[in-house]
Amino acid sequence: MKRVASAILPIIAIDRKAPKALHRQIYDSYRAAIVDCRLHPGQRIPSTRVLASEIGVSRFPILNAYAQLLAEGYFESRVGAGTVVSSSLPDQLTSSRPPNAPHSAARSGPRAVARRSPILPGIEAMPWMVNWGAFRVGQVAFDQFPLHVWSTLVARQCRGMNAQSAHYGSLMGSTALREAIAGYLKTARSVRCEAEQVMIVNGSQQALEIATRVLLNPGSRVWMEDPGYRLARDVFALNGCDVVPVRVDTEGLDVAAGIKKCRKAQAAFVTPSHQFPLGVTMSASRRLQLVDWAQQSGSWIIEDDYDSEYRFESLPIASLQGLDANSRVIYIGTFSKVLFPSLRLGYLVIPPDLVDRFHMCRRVMDLGPPTLTQEVLADFIVEGHFARHIRRMRVLYGELRRVLVSRLTEDLGSMVEIVGDEAGMHLALMLQTDHRDTEISQRAVRHSLSIWPLSHFYFGEPRQGFILGFGATKMNEIPGAVRKLHYLLTTK
Ligand SMILES: Cc1ncc(COP(=O)(O)O)c(C=O)c1O
Repeated sequence: MKRVASAILPIIAIDRKAPKALHRQIYDSYRAAIVDCRLHPGQRIPSTRVLASEIGVSRFPILNAYAQLLAEGYFESRVGAGTVVSSSLPDQLTSSRPPNAPHSAARSGPRAVARRSPILPGIEAMPWMVNWGAFRVGQVAFDQFPLHVWSTLVARQCRGMNAQSAHYGSLMGSTALREAIAGYLKTARSVRCEAEQVMIVNGSQQALEIATRVLLNPGSRVWMEDPGYRLARDVFALNGCDVVPVRVDTEGLDVAAGIKKCRKAQAAFVTPSHQFPLGVTMSASRRLQLVDWAQQSGSWIIEDDYDSEYRFESLPIASLQGLDANSRVIYIGTFSKVLFPSLRLGYLVIPPDLVDRFHMCRRVMDLGPPTLTQEVLADFIVEGHFARHIRRMRVLYGELRRVLVSRLTEDLGSMVEIVGDEAGMHLALMLQTDHRDTEISQRAVRHSLSIWPLSHFYFGEPRQGFILGFGATKMNEIPGAVRKLHYLLTTK
């Protein structure tokens, strides 16, 4: 049987001193709410008894008003669902717009917004970002996620909830999860940290926002890898920082080029394990140069280690943070790749002397992460499911990557150069032809391909190519998807 949502009370304006009869006031309120689309067809109406107790009138005027609304076809009675807004309202009845409908903005005069907010691009300019199709970047193989285990842990945590766990949690995050993460990072990523330095955040995006607010000022200069992660660039730009693009080559961010351009930058944002989007790994000598530059110039390094769990040809590379003896690295990690993005959980490892500052900044942002999911995740890690899941996914993604690379090599040959495929869940294709990548990415949407144009991630002179995610593309879909890409590259 279809379940019907319980009725939500609409705003019924009652004025006891008004000459208008109460039943008429109730009738008018409902009618107006239906005509203005504040109540929609099929929506359940509260019973007369509930409404009477909520608005503090007797049931008689309500019965009267309901009877009239039923008679005029605004309401209908449904077996098992009580009274609902009629599903067959004439169009003209609901076509007159309420005064606060979106298009009224055009008539309301100048609508000033903060100077910086228009710097962010509109999502409609990037159809490949919202399209679901093969090669979607950042999508994980969720069908492999141990949902049965997760559900058991969720149920167990829910059963154990009490008044204390239902109250605000710690701003830094759950102690159990911070300890579990610190243990994992020390072992698997050679991060120098104690649980006290770990702050749980709602994804690495929030980590970036907090780090920027704590460390940087409007006008601060920030090195960014070019090409680089646009959502990081947007955080810096929105906070008034000046982004200094620094080119990336086969060894990662070119530190010497950065120093030449802007030695005194206040920070550098880097993805050393698997550069986004080119996928290269920062070499040991560049890492040492970067750490040395930060110490010499009193700058910060923001290390985004977003998908370091997946390396295929070689052993995992230790974090940059672990190399730095001067506590100049703010380390950011996320569960978006290794588990799934809607979890919205990530973490910051903060230098010990800055923990208080980050803590207080977090306070004004969101009063901390949701407790329940943190506790579930802590159990998931501590009980060994996390490590097991990573091991399984490493094998699966490694296999997907192998099949994809071999199909791309066979079908596209010299049209493209494949880069950055030794780690992570995406690879980059550099176009060796004179195609425009944005134009092909747009056409690809119509062929159920979700390929991101590489040029979009350059801040200076763009190169043409694509970013292809392989996390959620099934093995048997790969040949057909690569054929489609070939078709797009060989037709107009
Ligand atoms: C470079 C980079 N960092 C971080 C993330 C993940 O961000 P979040 O943890 O906010 O989901 C992504 C996701 O695609 C990414 O590409």
